[in-house]
Amino acid sequence: MLGDILHPVTETPRNLFPVEFLYFIHNYMNKPLFMWAGGKTKMIKHYLPHMPSEVKSYCEPFFGGGAMFIHVMTKYNPDRAVINDINQDIMRIYRAIKTDYKNFITFVDALESKYLPLSKPDRKKMYYETRYMHAWHYGHWCNTQEAATLYFLLKTGFNGVYQLNHNTNGRYGTPAGLLNQKDKVYDRNVLQWWNNVLQQTEICSRDWKDVVDMEDDTFYFCDPPYRQSFANYGHSFTDDMCKELIQFCDSKSNVMLCNRDDDEWFADQHHTMNTTNFDANYTVGRKGKKEAKEILLWKTA
Ligand SMILES: C[S@@+](CC[C@H](N)C(=O)[O-])C[C@H]1O[C@@H](n2cnc3c(N)ncnc32)[C@H](O)[C@@H]1O
Repeated sequence: MLGDILHPVTETPRNLFPVEFLYFIHNYMNKPLFMWAGGKTKMIKHYLPHMPSEVKSYCEPFFGGGAMFIHVMTKYNPDRAVINDINQDIMRIYRAIKTDYKNFITFVDALESKYLPLSKPDRKKMYYETRYMHAWHYGHWCNTQEAATLYFLLKTGFNGVYQLNHNTNGRYGTPAGLLNQKDKVYDRNVLQWWNNVLQQTEICSRDWKDVVDMEDDTFYFCDPPYRQSFANYGHSFTDDMCKELIQFCDSKSNVMLCNRDDDEWFADQHHTMNTTNFDANYTVGRKGKKEAKEILLWKTA
């Protein structure tokens, strides 16, 4: 099993395959359910050298697409895992996949089979009609239909941008994506993986401070919104909030905190964590790329 190959105590497979190859395979098989601005899939390789040797209890208070969760569940299989994001709409997706999987699939499949045979202009029309229904008519839907519809929109919308608009009732209002899917909108194997792994996971949707009171040996992975980013996911995260988070992380012995660090703001903050910087590229608009500096603050056992 891949989980065995990735387990830290299985020396032989580790020696047989370079770590980069293992993580390519791992990321290929288990993926975030949807693209999410600030998602950490590509950054995980930089965090690996600083990961704890074991994780019995795991908490990810700023979950988004949960790139680190995938890694932790695959490699460490902790006894307890708590995931949280203040965005109730996306956490409803995880909850529906955990507790009402069959109906979730039925709703998404109905949208998918209506969408796939359409021409591009008709797909676009369907996307905006579905977005309109999600914005204004969700009150008539059960939680699972609401979650499945948002999931469909995230899979067909523009590139992991989560935009809230006045004209979509303050709800999901991202424009359509390229709409060029060939034979599927989502990967059932990925959904199945999430359904399995969420059975042993507590799902919350609150402010981060409400979920971080856990066992002493808990490994916390904290990936708050980037400082000074326009992508605030509908909830701003000020520098004062960031300072509070730094203080919390500093009081723990098994913790990682990541962010952008273009202005070296973190160097002026008082804490005792280790820090490591990385160069990263991020996408701007449909084609552009911009270079950025990222920071990882960490203390692990
Ligand atoms: C950078 S993203 C996390 C990305 C994630 N690590 C991934 O790999 O996809 C930051 C997340 O923090 C959430 N967030 C913002 N303010 C929050 C708060 N006060 N408490 C909990 N979550 C919050 C946002 O909704 C967003 O999903």
